[in-house]
Amino acid sequence: MRILFLVHAFNSLSQRLYVELARRGHELSVEFDINDTITAEAVALFRPDLILAPFLKRPIPEAVWRHHLCWVVHPGPRGDRGPSSLDWAVLEGARHWGVTVLQAEREMDSGPVWASVDCPLRAAAKGSLYRREVSEAAVTAVLEALDNLARPGFAPLPLATRPGHGLLRPAVRHADRALDWGRDDTATLLRKIRCADGAPGVRDRWQGRELYLYDAWPANGMQGYPGELLATHNGALCRATIDGAIWIGRLRERRDERQGLKLPAATVLGEAAARLPEAPPGCGYREIHYQEESGVGYLHFDFHNGAMGSEQCHRLLAAYEEALARDTRVLVLMGGEEFWSNGLHLHLIEAAANPGDASWENINAMDDLCRAIILTTDRLVVAALRGNAGAGGVFLALAADHVWAAPGVVFNPHYKNMGNLYGSEYWSYLLPRRLGSAGADALMQHRLPLGAAEAKGCGLIDDTFGADRDGFERELKQRAVALAQAADHTAQLAAKRAQRADDEAQKPLDDYRREELEQMRLNFYGFDPSYHIARYNFVRRIPHSRTPLHLARHRSKG
Ligand code: COA
Repeated sequence: MRILFLVHAFNSLSQRLYVELARRGHELSVEFDINDTITAEAVALFRPDLILAPFLKRPIPEAVWRHHLCWVVHPGPRGDRGPSSLDWAVLEGARHWGVTVLQAEREMDSGPVWASVDCPLRAAAKGSLYRREVSEAAVTAVLEALDNLARPGFAPLPLATRPGHGLLRPAVRHADRALDWGRDDTATLLRKIRCADGAPGVRDRWQGRELYLYDAWPANGMQGYPGELLATHNGALCRATIDGAIWIGRLRERRDERQGLKLPAATVLGEAAARLPEAPPGCGYREIHYQEESGVGYLHFDFHNGAMGSEQCHRLLAAYEEALARDTRVLVLMGGEEFWSNGLHLHLIEAAANPGDASWENINAMDDLCRAIILTTDRLVVAALRGNAGAGGVFLALAADHVWAAPGVVFNPHYKNMGNLYGSEYWSYLLPRRLGSAGADALMQHRLPLGAAEAKGCGLIDDTFGADRDGFERELKQRAVALAQAADHTAQLAAKRAQRADDEAQKPLDDYRREELEQMRLNFYGFDPSYHIARYNFVRRIPHSRTPLHLARHRSKG
């Protein structure tokens, strides 16, 4: 089928659906919802059989839905309606939720239902649920809807399953989730903060400042006067509740000189945070941790949004070196629960006094980390991707000997979308050795997301397995132990050392880095401001004024 994606932005859910539908042979194009005329023009140019709207912020124009089959992917169960669907679910502590594929009609989320799929909900932030449970259910629901469309005689179901069902729920207001540190218990505060995380964030007053709160976790063993700030840990702040305490990892000032960027909480609070004691590991907020099982080390790095600032890279490198000091035969790099890695921390760079210098420092810190992984020859290193990876985060994974991904992972293995950034992380060494130089060039120009199966198909990664993410984690452990216990483990290490020596003789690793960084220097300090502009727009979520041509295929000449 010819399917046109009509989206507010090409977000994670849109990308996931895009790779799943492309895999099934559908012909796809994307148009951003900029205005009704442009949408109508896209429809006329592409002549789609179906218009799919996985992420829209306003109704589809009547001129379009009247004449074309349009499906809206709604992040709520059948009968649920309204713009704050998932917000309400998190706020009210729902344990089960769903995704519904509705036919677009005059009123938003009111059309007949082509498919509806239930999913469980964890106690987690809205954004996390959206990227994991909701995305999985959305894929199933869209595929089911397509099956239904192909079934002769299938009639879509009415929205409501019983009288009174299918009523429009209003948007969650600030008053619905206002925090009351003197009355709300920890569980309530967590639900209120998480139902607005990642956007818009819950607003609260801290020391006379209006701040939005994100990245909330229950604290272990911390207590104080309700509302009191107790400690810091890796940039997060701990605040006492009536029955314990909560960690807040990220804050955004309502209006400030940084124009409201989401930043580590301690950075935003400044002086007041600097006076707080540092909490010990095990306090409930953790970015990096290490565990060991059956001769295999597992290094987790759960950085918020997968963004890795210089200081985080330094800490991870130190943890990596510590892990290398352990007596293990295999080290598995686990990335985070949410994302594997998205490379440079663009928000911290944007907030820096000199973003060029901050970018330079950050890319060098990333490169140091990649270098340490590439130069590890005394054991096998596995990159295990449970969450998505973008830009430098993908190449960080390629530094490992084996790259394995869960089936739902989406890769964005290119830098160009960030203002034609050249990229480093030794990609010019790592990518051609997997894809050949023509393959590497093609991938870097491609600019579209790749699913795990496609990444394996083109040789970017070694394998993807497991029916789902849990299945991946189970099998990952078995495979890692098998690698550690393999009879030819020593021979594998010898081959790895020989390969590295050979590669080094052909072209020293430092040369790759120097050449990449020469180009990056131009991106950071040169005449062309594209990277700085792209970063400015990205961190402030400034909507696109037109759809990039690599997405809007219907607009490309020929
Ligand atoms: N630095 C800081 N924040 C980042 C980030 C980065 N490198 N990558 C993603 N994020 C943040 C986003 O700002 C967003 O924040 P919010 O939702 O809390 O406000 C969140 O992570 C999710 O990102 P989003 O873009 O909504 O996710 P997505 O799944 O739709 O898209 C990517 C994934 C990787 C395509 C996209 O995030 C991206 O292009 N990131 C930048 C990658 C990059 O260029 N890195 C620098 C070069 S190494």
